[in-house]
Amino acid sequence: MTIDYIETGKIIASLTEGETDEVALMATVVCELHHADDRFDWTGFYRVTEPEVLKIGPYQGGHGCLVIPFARGVCGAAARTGEVQLVDDVDAFPGHIACASSTRSEIVLPVRAGDGRLLGVLDIDSDQPAAFTQADAEGLATLLASVFGRL
Ligand code: SME
Repeated sequence: MTIDYIETGKIIASLTEGETDEVALMATVVCELHHADDRFDWTGFYRVTEPEVLKIGPYQGGHGCLVIPFARGVCGAAARTGEVQLVDDVDAFPGHIACASSTRSEIVLPVRAGDGRLLGVLDIDSDQPAAFTQADAEGLATLLASVFGRL
């Protein structure tokens, strides 16, 4: 099954109408994303809880590491640079943090509130190599802006 970002965005919009609690929004987003695509083997948020520190938020899949400094990992790179990280081969990414040995590729996007504040990052891991494309980056970025832009 491959995700339809527009349809999934509509479902999430309906489920979260009027909601402004960050954790409730994150929990709903990861639930709908994770079950919408067979490539998504781990789907979760890391939140900015103090300067230069990410802590795990709502997620689906095996256990994820609890704390990631901005200086480390794919998630830290997304938080540090503000840029989407599209990683075809995690073993080729310097400093990749492996929460599961089965992970082969990964996409991580920064998550911003409507005022531009960095709330955290969305991390999706796949056991398939080169699982993610620019279309995923664009579809996810649009979906995240529609949900968290209200904050
Ligand atoms: N791979 C991420 C760490 C989070 S686990 O994959 C859930 C990273 O390198 O930042």
